[in-house]
Amino acid sequence: MSEKEWGGNPTPLKVMDLTLRDGTQSLFATRMRTEDMIPVAERLDEAGFWAAEVWGGATFDSMSRFLGEDPWERPRTLRKYCKNTPFSMLLRGQNLVGYRNYADDVAKEFVDLSCEAGINVFRTFDALNDYRNFEAVVERIKANGQHFQGTICYSLTERRMGGEVFNLEYYLDKARQLEEMGADSICVKDMAGIIAPYDAYTLIKALKERCKAPIHLHSHYTSGMASMSMLKAAEAGVDIIDCCLAPFALRTSHPAVEPIIVALEGTPRDTGLDLKLMLEMGGELEKIAPKYRDYWMPNKMSPIDTGVLVHQVPGGMISNLVSQLKEAKALHRLPEVYKEVAFTRAELGTPPLVTPTSQIVGVQAVLNVLFGKYKLVTNEVKGLAYGLYGQTPTEVYPEVRKKVLKGYARGQEPITCRPADILEPELEEAKARVKDIPGADKFDVMTAAIYDITGTQFVKIKRGVEPMPAAMKGKSLEDIKEEDAALEECLKQLKAKKAGK
Ligand code: CO
Repeated sequence: MSEKEWGGNPTPLKVMDLTLRDGTQSLFATRMRTEDMIPVAERLDEAGFWAAEVWGGATFDSMSRFLGEDPWERPRTLRKYCKNTPFSMLLRGQNLVGYRNYADDVAKEFVDLSCEAGINVFRTFDALNDYRNFEAVVERIKANGQHFQGTICYSLTERRMGGEVFNLEYYLDKARQLEEMGADSICVKDMAGIIAPYDAYTLIKALKERCKAPIHLHSHYTSGMASMSMLKAAEAGVDIIDCCLAPFALRTSHPAVEPIIVALEGTPRDTGLDLKLMLEMGGELEKIAPKYRDYWMPNKMSPIDTGVLVHQVPGGMISNLVSQLKEAKALHRLPEVYKEVAFTRAELGTPPLVTPTSQIVGVQAVLNVLFGKYKLVTNEVKGLAYGLYGQTPTEVYPEVRKKVLKGYARGQEPITCRPADILEPELEEAKARVKDIPGADKFDVMTAAIYDITGTQFVKIKRGVEPMPAAMKGKSLEDIKEEDAALEECLKQLKAKKAGK
């Protein structure tokens, strides 16, 4: 390939490492502890990644609810070991690190505190790609002099890019909106792992032709296409791609960085990353990986989910559908639910399926199958139809809207304004929640603002008002050795028993 090719971008391909956030979120339900991240963090500066994603997404919820760790401490701790690599977080727009829109006072304060805790790159997304939900946070990201990465959630209605809704023009228009908002870079976020290699090529090439801001591609390995798509994106001139170190890559996570280093070696897009160092860092992860083996997939041979190529339902959503159906003792109806997801999604305005819309559509699809169309309607679906999450890519079907908004407390007529405009300030209420907890500071107030129940509970534990539940303490490598010894003993006895028969 000549230098003119590579999408007119014959510069080294930059890589963001996602091992410590999306990698662990995808593979271990975000249960990785900060102490286990330190051996990798120590070497991140040597590695020379464009940035390392270490925070945001589900980390805040998981750390405060399950791990008994203060989420605010993670970037501070990692920064002690990694002085120069920019730290990135995944910010859910006005949803911050939660599952609903927060009021502007909370949103703004959250960004300020995140900057104080050491976050440099704010990968900001909105489930509906409604960028009015960026306004409050972007103002603060910019005011703090940090990097605003504007994100477009990649979604499809057909097998491949195109059709009436999510076609090339849609994505180019979203990129234009992001540039107008002052995006320092633009990310295509393929959360379900459904961007096909040649669509990645077409999309990235068109974005590179239109945009001044660097273009970044994020894709999950779920369907098995992501490494191919990254390579085609590199050929199309993408500036930055997302990868993980091999132990935390592939499956529902991301492409592994190691093969990509070799694939591009000697080309104008050579990453310049040190393969040997990557292997050493991977070795560190393998050492602690047994602590998280409860999250490994038993009883499944295929590391990829080829079903996604057909039904396009993202991995996290599938596990929710399955558990909801199991609870209703109706797991056999899963194929019907897959079909219903497509209908429900169209009826509710064709939202991209990502937190929180994936849950909203998924739960309603199950209810539609079990009880009949919109006989039971969740509050979240009412909110979505009312406009509380923003403008949906297509109009909510009028007859569905009428049905779900019947008797809705906020009103029957949907709003058209920026959703946060109708929210009352929330920060004072959060302050009141923690005012009797000795030592509670502004970071604790924010934790309680984001999660009124579990967050406030965590602040009590953190400040010693309540004891830490044993379940939060997790397994050590010693525990794993004990488990293994006990397991071996059991197997021995079983074999002896069988031999005796
Ligand atoms: Co992701």
